[in-house]
Amino acid sequence: MNIRSLHSSDKPAMRALVEAVHTQQGLLAQFYWPPDLLGAELATAEAVGVFEGEALAGFILYRELPDAWEISLVASHPRFRRQGYMERLFTYVIAAKGQERQLWLEVHEENLSAQKLYEKLGFKEVRRRPRYYADSGTAILYTLE
Ligand SMILES: CC(C)(COP(=O)(O)OP(=O)(O)OC[C@H]1O[C@@H](n2cnc3c(N)ncnc32)[C@H](O)[C@@H]1OP(=O)(O)O)[C@@H](O)C(=O)NCCC(=O)NCCS
Repeated sequence: MNIRSLHSSDKPAMRALVEAVHTQQGLLAQFYWPPDLLGAELATAEAVGVFEGEALAGFILYRELPDAWEISLVASHPRFRRQGYMERLFTYVIAAKGQERQLWLEVHEENLSAQKLYEKLGFKEVRRRPRYYADSGTAILYTLE
C-alpha cells in the first residue's frame, strides 16, 4: 500500500475507478459522478490516492479553503473494499491538513458504510440538509477538527 498526490496522468485511473463504483452500485444519488461532473471536479480539485502495487485502490478529491479542506469525492474500488485502504488514505489527509484546519464533507443519509467510516475516523455530524440530493435524500454534514 502506498499513498501519493494524483496528477493529470492519473485521471484515466480515477475515471475507471468511478466507473467501477457505478457499475457495482448503479448511478445512485449518494454517489453521482457521471463523466461530465467528474471531469469538472478533476480539473479543479486536489487529489490524493492509495495504491496497491500499480493499481489505484482509492482516492479523495478536496478543495483547499483558508480554514478547511472541503472533501468532494471519496471512493475506493469495489475490488479493494473493507481492507483499510480508505482509512489509511484519510489518516494521511488528516495529517497533511495540519491542526489549524478542519475537514468538511457531506454524505447521503442512506450511505451507512461511508458514515461508519467517517465516524470511525472521528468526524462529527454538525448539520443536516433535507432534500439535498436528486432523490430528495438528506445530506449529513460532518467535520473533523
Ligand atoms: C465508503 C467507502 C469509501 C469505504 O471504503 P473502504 O476502503 O472499503 O473503507 P475501509 O476498508 O478503509 O473501512 C474503514 C472503516 O469504515 C467502515 N466501513 C467501511 N465500509 C463499511 C461497510 N460496508 N459497512 C460498515 N462499515 C464500513 C468500518 O468502520 C471500517 O472499519 P472496519 O473494517 O475495521 O470495521 C467505499 O465503500 C466506497 O467507495 N463506497 C462507494 C462510494 C461512496 O459511497 N463514497 C462516499 C460518498 S460520501
